[in-house]
Amino acid sequence: MTAPYRAALTGLGAYLPEKVLTNFELEKMVETSDEWIRTRTGIRERHVAAPGQSSSDLALPAAREAIENAGLTVKDIDLIIVATISPDMLFPSTACYLQAKLGATCGAFDMAAACSGFPYAIAIAEGFVKSGLYKNVLVVGAEAITKFINWKDRSTCVLFGDGAGAAVVSRSRDDHGILASNLGADGRESEILQIPAGGSMNPPTEETVKSGLHYLRMAGPELFKIAVKTMEQAVRNVLKHGNLEVKDIACLIPHQANNRILQAVSERLEIDPARVFINVDRYGNMSSASTAVALYEAVKTGAIKRGDYVVLVAFGGGLTWAANLIKW
Ligand code: UT7
Repeated sequence: MTAPYRAALTGLGAYLPEKVLTNFELEKMVETSDEWIRTRTGIRERHVAAPGQSSSDLALPAAREAIENAGLTVKDIDLIIVATISPDMLFPSTACYLQAKLGATCGAFDMAAACSGFPYAIAIAEGFVKSGLYKNVLVVGAEAITKFINWKDRSTCVLFGDGAGAAVVSRSRDDHGILASNLGADGRESEILQIPAGGSMNPPTEETVKSGLHYLRMAGPELFKIAVKTMEQAVRNVLKHGNLEVKDIACLIPHQANNRILQAVSERLEIDPARVFINVDRYGNMSSASTAVALYEAVKTGAIKRGDYVVLVAFGGGLTWAANLIKW
């Protein structure tokens, strides 16, 4: 049975906090070097949220821009989904904070799929729009993830940055829009990337704080290998669902964790690197905001044009992975 409606991304927005932290500044904070960070990750600098600036604060300007670019007003938004793993609070949801800041009155909820958050949320919005339940869903990937980083741990603090990207997913009026999405997870590998304390498994105590269990932890080299294989497979799967091939992709928007991961994925897919959008050098890993901001910049800079086939693919803690195939 074909769905009554097709869903399309009709407006995009992005916001990066003002403060830029360079590798050279990090050299003064931990035992690292610009050379190590650049050669091992491709990152040169990242944006960092100000004290008191939360994920919903980053989400707000991105959301407003996306709504305006879609030619809509806040009143037209039927649902708000915020993908984040650095929420304003455990509850209420960041989406509720954003809803109030926008002056919206629709339903709002958060979803946590770590770095895969944005393509996961796009697939959920696609479902709501395709079913006919909602016409316009606002999807935001927003992270103030540096608030959960141990600035004394060089193995993680050089990698992450803050930011937000947003998209309005609306009923498509033609054959353009989301052609296929696929979502994946493997909860057995939850320890590879996590913030161990602060939830109901390890509630926050003096001891958890003293042991630094409220900070993000990552088994980088293990994750690297799984990330490469999984992102390649997620791209192949979503193309299969859309009856397309790698050669049909005009622009691949991968999660921006590490430039070496992106190179390895490109090689395995045998895709021309010029068709793989990369901005990790300027932002680092912004978790669920990464693909959202990369998509925004790819459209803005003309790397994506109307009629192009675009694939969003991400991988992250959970483990989770997700891909969307879009005819732009
Ligand atoms: O967003 C979700 C997905 N995230 C990912 O997929 C991240 C995947 N992993 C990675 O990107 C990489 O594994 C990292 C960038 C995290 C690490 O790169 P690596 O090439 O795997 O390095 P490593 O962890 O194996 O460390 C190599 C060396 C070690 O020193 P020894 O033991 O060889 O003496 C580390 O202690 O580099 C050292 N090192 C550093 N040196 C300078 C680790 N971090 C740093 C640092 N500066 N910041």
